[in-house]
Amino acid sequence: MRVITTIKDMQTEIINLKAQSKSIGFVPTMGFLHEGHLTLLKRAREENNIVVLSIFVNPLQFGPTEDFSTYPRDFDRDQSLADCEGVDLLFYPSVEEMYHHSSSVRVTVQERTDVLCGKSRPGHFDGVATVLTKLFNIVMPTRAYFGIKDAQQVAVVEGLISDFNFPIELIPVDIVREEDGLAKSSRNVNLLPEERSEAVVLYKSLTAAKKAIEEGERNPQTIKDQVSDMIRSETHGQIDYVEIYTYPQLKEIQNLEGTCIIALAVKFSKVRLIDNIILEIS
Ligand code: PAJ
Repeated sequence: MRVITTIKDMQTEIINLKAQSKSIGFVPTMGFLHEGHLTLLKRAREENNIVVLSIFVNPLQFGPTEDFSTYPRDFDRDQSLADCEGVDLLFYPSVEEMYHHSSSVRVTVQERTDVLCGKSRPGHFDGVATVLTKLFNIVMPTRAYFGIKDAQQVAVVEGLISDFNFPIELIPVDIVREEDGLAKSSRNVNLLPEERSEAVVLYKSLTAAKKAIEEGERNPQTIKDQVSDMIRSETHGQIDYVEIYTYPQLKEIQNLEGTCIIALAVKFSKVRLIDNIILEIS
């Protein structure tokens, strides 16, 4: 595995590989790798000649009061995990390398960001779309792998790829969970022990919602109330949102039918966790 820290070296390497008709699978991350990231890497390894992993904690997608400085980082550990997964190129640029002058252009996402995390984190998806536009131009992947854990991000990336005509196939990958159901996240390490035990309720509330829908409930408000009540009564977390929308359009829905997402965000003392479940409702 080769570690590359400059944009120029990365582009030179990729142009060379493309000249040899190699397919390139790309997994963009902010590092502190866990099983969720590794699942994306495994999938990329299976489907491409070359696997590129990027590790870059992107300051542009963090709000002024968010956890950019405390976001967990451990490059040495990440490097050995990446090596074990058969990554060919690890792109690890500094903030200066990625944003070395004040930018004259930024990407603004127009749709699918007025709800969920886009609503509670203003500017977040503009930051994600801007860094991904840069990374797509640097890595020039054949396929890019994203986790449905960040379902709104997948919806935004779908729009980015299609609107900006990137010749990239978007591959969404299912949520990887801990044994007790908690969605794996780099941020889980910042939960206090008591909060870690309580956090299982997030997924438990989503599975209870799924069951209620399977048993015939079709009123979104009833389901949202049920999920919120369970989180309120069984955790000390503060609900940021519990919402139900169509997916991937993220539009309001009156009666549950078609493809829908139940998504939630809950704030604990040092971290905000998100989770979701996507259902096909007939
Ligand atoms: P990060 O949070 O590091 O996540 C990198 C990728 O791993 C994302 O596509 C995310 O959805 C996926 N992922 C995280 N946890 C997962 C889980 N439990 N199961 C499956 N996939 C999971 O998302 C970002 O970084 C950034 O916004 C980025 C796209 C890199 C842009 O900066």
